[in-house]
Amino acid sequence: MKPSTFPFWVASISSWASPVTAASCWRDTTCSGPSEAAFPGPWDSNIYAPTSRSVLPEFAFTTQNRSSTLLGDSRALHGNGSNIVYDFGREVGGIVSFLYSASGPGSIGIAFTEASTWIGEWSDASNGRFSGRDGALYVDVSTAGNGTYTMPDKSMRGGFRYMTVFLLSNSNVTIQISEVKLEISFQPTWADLRAYQGYFHSSDELLNRIWYAGAYTLQTNAVPVNTGRWVPTLANGWANNGTMGPGDTIIVDGAKRDRAVWPGDMGIAVPSSFVSIGDLDSVKNALQVMYDYQNKDGSFPEAGPPLLQQNSDTYHMWTMIGTYNYMLYTNDAAFVQQNWAKYLRAMEYIYGKVDASGLLNQTGTRDWARWQTGFNNTEVNVILYHTLRTSASLAVWLNDTVGLSDQWLKRALPLQTAITKYCFDESYGAFKDNATATELHPQDANSMAILFGLINATSPTASSISSRLTENWSPIGAVAPELPENISPFISSFEIQAHLTIDETDRALDLIRRSWGWYANHPNGTGSTVIEGYLVNGTFGYRSSRGYGYDASYVSHAHGWSSGPTSALTEFIVGLSVTGPAGRTWSLKPQFGDLKFAEAGFTTGLGKFQAKWEKSSSGYNVTFETPKGTTGLVGLPIIQSGKKPFFKINGEVEDIGVDGGRAVVSVDGVHFLGLFLNPSALFATCHLTQRRYMVIGQYSKEIGYIGL
Ligand SMILES: *[C@@H]1O[C@H](CO)[C@@H](O)[C@H](O)[C@H]1NC(C)=O
Ligand SMILES: *[C@@H]1O[C@H](CO)[C@@H](O)[C@H](O)[C@H]1NC(C)=O
Ligand SMILES: *[C@@H]1O[C@H](CO)[C@@H](O)[C@H](O)[C@H]1NC(C)=O
Ligand SMILES: *[C@@H]1O[C@H](CO)[C@@H](O)[C@H](O)[C@H]1NC(C)=O
Ligand SMILES: *[C@@H]1O[C@H](CO)[C@@H](O)[C@H](O)[C@H]1NC(C)=O
Ligand SMILES: *[C@@H]1O[C@H](CO)[C@@H](O)[C@H](O)[C@H]1NC(C)=O
Ligand SMILES: *[C@@H]1O[C@H](CO)[C@@H](O)[C@H](O)[C@H]1NC(C)=O
Ligand SMILES: *[C@@H]1O[C@H](CO)[C@@H](O)[C@H](O)[C@H]1NC(C)=O
Ligand SMILES: *[C@@H]1O[C@H](CO)[C@@H](O)[C@H](O)[C@H]1NC(C)=O
Ligand SMILES: *[C@@H]1O[C@H](CO)[C@@H](O)[C@H](O)[C@H]1NC(C)=O
Ligand SMILES: *[C@@H]1O[C@H](CO)[C@@H](O)[C@H](O)[C@H]1NC(C)=O
Ligand SMILES: *[C@@H]1O[C@H](CO)[C@@H](O)[C@H](O)[C@H]1NC(C)=O
Repeated sequence: MKPSTFPFWVASISSWASPVTAASCWRDTTCSGPSEAAFPGPWDSNIYAPTSRSVLPEFAFTTQNRSSTLLGDSRALHGNGSNIVYDFGREVGGIVSFLYSASGPGSIGIAFTEASTWIGEWSDASNGRFSGRDGALYVDVSTAGNGTYTMPDKSMRGGFRYMTVFLLSNSNVTIQISEVKLEISFQPTWADLRAYQGYFHSSDELLNRIWYAGAYTLQTNAVPVNTGRWVPTLANGWANNGTMGPGDTIIVDGAKRDRAVWPGDMGIAVPSSFVSIGDLDSVKNALQVMYDYQNKDGSFPEAGPPLLQQNSDTYHMWTMIGTYNYMLYTNDAAFVQQNWAKYLRAMEYIYGKVDASGLLNQTGTRDWARWQTGFNNTEVNVILYHTLRTSASLAVWLNDTVGLSDQWLKRALPLQTAITKYCFDESYGAFKDNATATELHPQDANSMAILFGLINATSPTASSISSRLTENWSPIGAVAPELPENISPFISSFEIQAHLTIDETDRALDLIRRSWGWYANHPNGTGSTVIEGYLVNGTFGYRSSRGYGYDASYVSHAHGWSSGPTSALTEFIVGLSVTGPAGRTWSLKPQFGDLKFAEAGFTTGLGKFQAKWEKSSSGYNVTFETPKGTTGLVGLPIIQSGKKPFFKINGEVEDIGVDGGRAVVSVDGVHFLGLFLNPSALFATCHLTQRRYMVIGQYSKEIGYIGL
């Protein structure tokens, strides 16, 4: 078999190379981002990022007549109250400018919104005061004549799709508006906003769009460090002139707001950023600022400056888990070592809250917006379990010699026992909200208990929880019992991964399509990003009654914490994930669901990782390629029982019985898992068909085969 039989990453490269554009980084920022896409291909047509940092609106209309037309060069405002609505066709953010030519005096107003719902003279809300929407910027034109307008830097609008330009005037003036332009401020260190270091493609067009909407959202959330939301909150208007942390680029929670570092959000955003755009610089700076602002007692802030909100045990731990994720994706041990003393204090701070019951007593009560927190809350305890186990891995990766890894694993065991003993509701078959007689079975703790391995993935318990979770589903997504009426794509990002962890593939794909599909196809949405949250009645008013002042326009429509499908589709559906720093160990465990094919790739300092599977009526093929010197665990779905799998390197058949070699794990009898040693560049072809049949592939000198 010649390499050209596998065109998906060989043959297509040249014809799909990114077009060369007049690319540039933000203002005087040093360009340190990637210069080209790692996996160019036909899937690039799904990328929402524009080819240039300077973008023009695509369509225009008026509030009186919303029939959109392609934008011509120049449009006119005639008389008081007239307007032009500019549609950039996707979420954008940055500095707007235009030329005007006035026949007399007047005032030009400029208002912004992400959702079309709030097109008009008042921008959607972002300033955090909850005293009304954001209003507009104004350009005062005193006499007839021409002028240029560029919005002030501090008024930079971080996230919007629609811009309404309107005229206030006492006289019958005409103002011609032309050359409307936006200078994009996000992803400031990248010269080419489309130079993705990862990709995803599958037979399902909706899933492809959702994956790329997550990726683009993360780009809009990687922003210049001096463009944070100003605190104290303004009574009128908005200002994005706050300093958020070190470096040139930093990952924030949302494009429009809050524009601050939120470590909890990073729990979903960072894995998705890694598999898609591959921006870990923004993550490093975001983590560093949390270490820089660690409190004397060892606690981390809940959010970075200038907001600097405090008092969250869960977000404290998300900073620790974020450090683990960052090390996992980059192997940047120097960064972790530089902050290690602070990490240890953070561990003692949080573990010190475990009381005689064996459970953590949550006293830092802020969290993601669930109503009830505090005391022996289940979610916080499940997160502590994950923190202890990820910390143990971190210690191993740092070659710790003082037994920290053992110590932390020894702490995780009794915690697991206590959570199961006090927080599990046997009669219901899922976790309760805390260790009391409550009837509430939350979406967050139950999803995380499966995803974080607190309960055995092959146990009836896991399957019961997964099934119970579906009882929260509505036609447009899962309603969180711990935040009634609300649909949280953040917590649902954990839920889809929980179902995938136990091979409930159809269930996970169903929830992705209902929830993220609902927003992706919503006519009022950005059509390019993932939303922070929404209500089960189909309005965008997430958290209306829980801190957002009943102002549905405050909700962010580009929130990285909702990007879970992006990492899930790569890591569980294609099934390719890293398990050791920078992918020196990795895992490939595909899941098919109702898809015909799926493929994905991502990049680490060690090189490119890529895998593809394709189904047919008689079986399936898996092909993959990982960097030299890496080691992986391959687990392939068995489609016919009773066939003994084998595995070939250079023609030699290796018997890899379930307990052969090291670290061979039997997941559930449906999977075969083999330890796949990969001393050199690997290109394996797998044919599982009804006959014992294997096709030989060839790539470089080393060839691996897996067959049945
Ligand atoms: C609305 O705008 C569209 C597109 O410009 C135009 O074809 C249509 O005639 C307009 N309708 C009215 C009622 O003005
Ligand atoms: C003002 O701009 C218009 C184009 O919008 C142009 O035709 C006109 O010559 C300009 N006038 C002056 C005085 O520059
Ligand atoms: C306003 O000016 C336009 C042309 O500039 C003219 O057609 C229209 O009749 C004027 N309206 C009034 C109320 O003066
Ligand atoms: C940011 O803008 C706000 C509102 O205009 C202003 O009060 C504040 O002083 C500005 N901060 C800085 C650092 O420029
Ligand atoms: C948990 O901490 C709170 C606040 O410090 C305290 O009032 C409560 O008694 C503690 N609960 C338990 C079970 O220790
Ligand atoms: C336990 O959870 C329920 C449901 O969230 C809540 O009403 C109750 O206040 C919680 N009790 C404690 C002690 O945290
Ligand atoms: C840990 O030890 C290994 C083997 O000696 C070495 O290659 C690696 O660089 C060490 N890692 C750190 C973070 O010191
Ligand atoms: C959980 O917290 C509640 C409220 O403080 C307390 O009554 C209960 O005994 C605690 N349960 C355990 C197992 O610690
Ligand atoms: C997980 O559960 C399965 C089936 O109940 C069992 O065979 C296996 O030993 C369990 N694994 C662990 C690590 O407890
Ligand atoms: C949706 O639910 C919210 C919260 O209960 C409520 O405020 C809003 O009026 C509802 N909107 C519609 C259209 O039902
Ligand atoms: C969508 O926009 C229309 C107006 O065009 C509005 O009537 C409707 O309520 C909006 N829907 C949502 C969910 O905001
Ligand atoms: C697997 O790939 C080989 C070579 O491309 C092809 O001949 C075969 O039909 C494929 N089988 C399946 C099940 O897709």
